Amino acid sequence: MDEGGSRLRRRVSVRKRDRPSPGKPRQEQEEEEEPGAGGRRRRTAEAQPLQSNDSEEDMFGDYDSFAENSFLAQVDDVERQYMQVFERGKLAAGLSTDGLRGDGGAPAAGGFAASETDAPARNRRRREDASAQLGILDDVPSSQGFYFEDLGISPADGGNPCTGERAWASSLETLNEELPQNSVEQHQQPDDSSSEVRSGSEENRRKSLKEHLKSAMTGNARAQTPVFSRTKQLKETLLSEEISVAKKTMESSSDDLGPFYSLPSKVRDLYVQFKGIEKLYEWQHTCLTLNSVQERKNLIYSLPTSGGKTLVAEILMLQELLCRRRDVLMILPYVAIVQEKISGLSSFGIELGFFVEEYAGSKGKFPPIKRREKKSLYIATIEKGHSLVNSLIETGRIGSLGLVVVDELHMIGEGSRGAILEMTLAKILYTSKTTQIIGMSATLSNVEDLQEFLQAECYTSQFRPVELKEYLKIKEAIYEVDNKAENGMTFSRLLNCQYSDTLKKMDPDHLVALVTEVIPNYSCLVFCPTKKNCENVAEMICKFLSKEYLKHREKEKHELIKNLKSISGGNVCPILKRTIPFGVAYHHSGLTSDERRLLEEAYSAGALCLFTCTSTLAAGVNLPARRVILRAPYVAKEFLKRSQYEQMIGRAGRAGIDSVGESVLILQEKDKQQVSELISRPLENCYSHLVQEFTKGIQTLFLSLIGLKIATNLDDICHFMGGTLFGVQQKILLKEKSLREITVEWLRYLTEKGLLQKDVVDKPKDESFHITKLGRASFKGTIDLAYCDILYRDLKKGLEGLVLESLLHLIYLTTPYDMASHCVPDWMIYFRQFSQLSPAEQNVAALLGVSENFIGKKASGQAIKKKVDKDIVNRLYLSFVLYTLLKETNIWSVSEKFNMPRGYIQSLLAGAASFSSCVLHFCEELEEFWVYRALLVELTKKLTYCVKAELIPLMEVTGVLEGRAKQLYNAGYKSLIHLANANPEALIRTVDHLSRRQAKQIVSSAKMLLHEKAEALQEEVEELLRPPSDFPSVEASSTEKA
Ligand SMILES: Nc1ncnc2c1ncn2[C@@H]1O[C@H](COP(=O)(O)OP(=O)(O)OP(=O)(O)O)[C@@H](O)[C@H]1O
Ligand SMILES: [Mg+2]
Repeated sequence: MDEGGSRLRRRVSVRKRDRPSPGKPRQEQEEEEEPGAGGRRRRTAEAQPLQSNDSEEDMFGDYDSFAENSFLAQVDDVERQYMQVFERGKLAAGLSTDGLRGDGGAPAAGGFAASETDAPARNRRRREDASAQLGILDDVPSSQGFYFEDLGISPADGGNPCTGERAWASSLETLNEELPQNSVEQHQQPDDSSSEVRSGSEENRRKSLKEHLKSAMTGNARAQTPVFSRTKQLKETLLSEEISVAKKTMESSSDDLGPFYSLPSKVRDLYVQFKGIEKLYEWQHTCLTLNSVQERKNLIYSLPTSGGKTLVAEILMLQELLCRRRDVLMILPYVAIVQEKISGLSSFGIELGFFVEEYAGSKGKFPPIKRREKKSLYIATIEKGHSLVNSLIETGRIGSLGLVVVDELHMIGEGSRGAILEMTLAKILYTSKTTQIIGMSATLSNVEDLQEFLQAECYTSQFRPVELKEYLKIKEAIYEVDNKAENGMTFSRLLNCQYSDTLKKMDPDHLVALVTEVIPNYSCLVFCPTKKNCENVAEMICKFLSKEYLKHREKEKHELIKNLKSISGGNVCPILKRTIPFGVAYHHSGLTSDERRLLEEAYSAGALCLFTCTSTLAAGVNLPARRVILRAPYVAKEFLKRSQYEQMIGRAGRAGIDSVGESVLILQEKDKQQVSELISRPLENCYSHLVQEFTKGIQTLFLSLIGLKIATNLDDICHFMGGTLFGVQQKILLKEKSLREITVEWLRYLTEKGLLQKDVVDKPKDESFHITKLGRASFKGTIDLAYCDILYRDLKKGLEGLVLESLLHLIYLTTPYDMASHCVPDWMIYFRQFSQLSPAEQNVAALLGVSENFIGKKASGQAIKKKVDKDIVNRLYLSFVLYTLLKETNIWSVSEKFNMPRGYIQSLLAGAASFSSCVLHFCEELEEFWVYRALLVELTKKLTYCVKAELIPLMEVTGVLEGRAKQLYNAGYKSLIHLANANPEALIRTVDHLSRRQAKQIVSSAKMLLHEKAEALQEEVEELLRPPSDFPSVEASSTEKA
């Protein structure tokens, strides 16, 4: 495999630089692979420069390195469903008797619990029951027919679609019994019918489910004759749905202003209520009313940071969900942002009646659940978005995706993630003509290429609601960036800094003077080149801040420390303990996600006023500041790129809070020339990485094109390639070969590698391919093709003698290869851990070829003659870390034991959980590995939920991490149902350090999740009762007899 890769590399001349070839020895490659943090990311020399271990550009490990975890999710779901027979009984009882549909009255307690007692509702229920029993319900996807009918308005009236919400709200109302008292108060309704359901015994509920199933089955049996009429009915229903959708589309596009951009005016109220947005900016209005937008053409829009791009995308998504009634996919760059968005949009989903589904980390189902009536907004990371699209194509459902929104579209030019984004979009363009694509970014330059790729219109504006003033600091002088000036800057002022000698020595860059001009009343971000530097700068600044700073919001800071302690089992980082009292903290990937969340919340609330952070924060989370300081024009050792600079300074100036935002770039004399070029140069162009990223780019693409049967012969694949961004840029990116030649070479390479097989055809020009078993296993498991051979070998070897006395051997098999290749063991620790192993565990090491003698020699610095596979040794070391973590479940103690940052250990665990699920999918496709399947199901679960079992249901809720889950559990909120029914005010009272905003978001997210689960169960019941589509028809069987 590797040789082929390097052969190809030599022949492909790529415009910007040479990529590492898969043929290079692993060790050489290591240097180009980004260390740590969750991942399989390959650093590209240009996009993410080479850094030392300590100075890596940290990405929080929160992009998704392994794309698919559907099996785990499914296993969990099935398990939970069984465990919830009781609840299911209730739901089914609700389905058959009461409580499924609301009465159209105002929802109680924040729109969650509503009762239904009125006659129209009962009539409606009867109709629904009747149709369910006749088996018609399933055939009427346009269940909104009933819904609009009930509202007494036509769909064209722009009726409020949130009524459907009450349906599940009331069905859930019956589930309140086990709630803590304080949270139930709010939901109790003087409702006879629901109290009837509540007072019924469990036995009755089960009986009710049974009866429902029985009566529905009898109904089905009756309804089966004549079947042809049912098919006809189905066709008619589908036709009428199509007509109704088409009508609505026409109406919504011609009536562009509706009550609120074709949306119910409630949407406007929600923006005021949840986001404090009273009025759209002018550009937002212009953009939303563009002809191209009205005509649903693909669109790219580009505005400066903080321009308000999100709102436009959100309104378009709501139009798609509510007016056109199609599902929507929103792709965001990081897990943290996906979670932020889920929390922010869940309340919209609840109010307006659509699902918000998370596709990040280990969350997300492939293919997604088909919803009965409401539409889904999938919010996904780049990797999960790709898997989601694959699964929709595979199941023939890609047409259900009405709109795909890509935030930070410029990321398409960044390494393997860019390649994945590109192939996702190219597949959508190729397979679905009805899916609209919208991309946005603040840092796009060669937008024409992207326009051509996406066949999109473009809208740009320079609007920024808060003015951003850019400054440069050289020694004590501050210059303002001024494009009109000769060298791009004009002198502004001298910094007022009367420094003592000690301070001069400790703070030669005058950071203390710069930050104290804004803090504590305004917030400030200091971007530092490395993680270690963040910590040092935070400590240094605090050393020189006056005691006055301690008094500012003292109580909140004290609470924060207490809270950090309580979520980390009594541990607090000593640096944070010293800096937080001054309102200062560092922020990088060494923190656990729980810590990061708490710090971010405190910063957003103003209790913390200064973050020292790495460049990741610029793209990672929405934490703006009055002043942004760039400690040096470097990210690690690489000079800043224009786009990085823009993203960082773009955090300055909060809309609605600051009247102005300022950025200060600190530079030394020696950097003056380069900085002057930096501030005057245009943004870097964005180039396709599809072909440069071998294993995660073009190889994966070809495998999936053939595996999914999107394109299986040479002509079609070439045609597909012509439609990619690479195809658009081939003149620039390909010097020596044609696109067809490249395609032929990679197809040959994949065939030689045993992943593809050529079909036997008469003429060579008809050359077509199919995927082999190994190819399918790699594709299904989303295994990086750089590792599929070695994974196969490792698993095969494991079959010869898997040690199952402990989990160590299995853990070894699911320890991510890429993380292992970056690992640098501490040999003393390695030796100590090794000697503590039991004989069975040591046997694992022996089977892998790692001896105590070797580790001992390494630890004592002796020369080693015998050749030992470094990759195996390193991987085993990481397996030790994971093994210890599973035994102890305490990140802090493992961090100490192995002298590794706690954030890294958390990423390692997440990476292993994902990879374990990938290996499981891999094994599922290969009969010879059947024995691994059951083992890996269990192991994946263990790795995913490395916490006490009782916290798992709470941690399913977006934004509830381990620490918070513990608090909620101790306060009596023991399940998802408890959380969904909780009153945010009661939560604030009973859970320490929980803000109103967080409480509301937790409750909204829990409601949304519970709603999704309830829907899925209802769907399952209906599926169970639905006659099979291939049921032999009476006519057919009588004809056969005749
Ligand atoms: N019409 C509006 N009125 C008031 N505030 C608004 C309006 N539109 C957006 N905002 C607010 O402006 C802030 C920045 O908006 P947003 O996050 O959409 O910026 P962006 O263009 O996506 O920037 P970036 O490129 O940095 O991601 C948000 O806090 C948002 O709530
Ligand atoms: Mg944005």
